[in-house]
Amino acid sequence: MTEPTFIEAVNLQKSYAMPHGVVDVLTGMSLQIQAGEHVCIMGASGSGKSTLMHLLAGLDTPDAGDVLIEGEAIHRWKESRRANFRAQHIGVVFQNYHLLPDLNVLENVLMPTRALKSWSEPGGKVVDKAKTLLDSVGLLHRLDHRPVELSGGEQQRLAVARALINEPKILMADEPTGNLDANTGGLLLDDLFRLSEEQNRTLVIVTHDPCLAERCHRTIHL
Ligand SMILES: Nc1ncnc2c1ncn2[C@@H]1O[C@H](COP(=O)(O)OP(=O)(O)OP(=O)(O)O)[C@@H](O)[C@H]1O
Ligand SMILES: [Mg+2]
Repeated sequence: MTEPTFIEAVNLQKSYAMPHGVVDVLTGMSLQIQAGEHVCIMGASGSGKSTLMHLLAGLDTPDAGDVLIEGEAIHRWKESRRANFRAQHIGVVFQNYHLLPDLNVLENVLMPTRALKSWSEPGGKVVDKAKTLLDSVGLLHRLDHRPVELSGGEQQRLAVARALINEPKILMADEPTGNLDANTGGLLLDDLFRLSEEQNRTLVIVTHDPCLAERCHRTIHL
């Protein structure tokens, strides 16, 4: 039997009902992404990139069409099952980070480990792993800062570290370098691609940055 496509969107439709009328964002979007592929999604502001990424990550459900991961229609699952699947397999870097304001840097990175079924009180190992990741994104000197006590770029780097802590097989990142200078952004991407190569991770990255697009295998234009 042939293996199903790793990530597949089939005829996705998504609209938002607003008081002045309906906003049609996706009107029949289909795509296929193979395991281990590094794909970037580009398009003008408002073209639906974040909407598409949220659907592919199972954070939102389409009005019509399917999102299949290894042949499984994840949008038809109950939210609790999707949340558990995401915690194990999909790291997400949100466009506006979604860091937890009352937790410090170290606690924010550790947060996704708590969602795993196998989670028990964080021992030394997972804390060491979090610190290694925070070191690689240049935040080891900010462990006890809360998000509000970080710069925009530091928050962005924290969001990337948090998305990688569970070693997900898929990383979806929404403009992960949008708030970084070219040098810091380049270093962050070096780490992100290196770690992803090592772990054969599939990357889906939304970006406006042609340099980042060049580092991916393929670009999907919206
Ligand atoms: N919850 C919502 N309710 C109503 N309209 C929405 C909602 N979310 C997004 N939209 C609209 O859908 C369109 C696509 O939004 P989306 O965030 O996917 O765009 P984008 O391509 O990620 O843009 P950007 O590059 O600015 O981040 C926009 O016109 C936006 O106004
Ligand atoms: Mg967006």
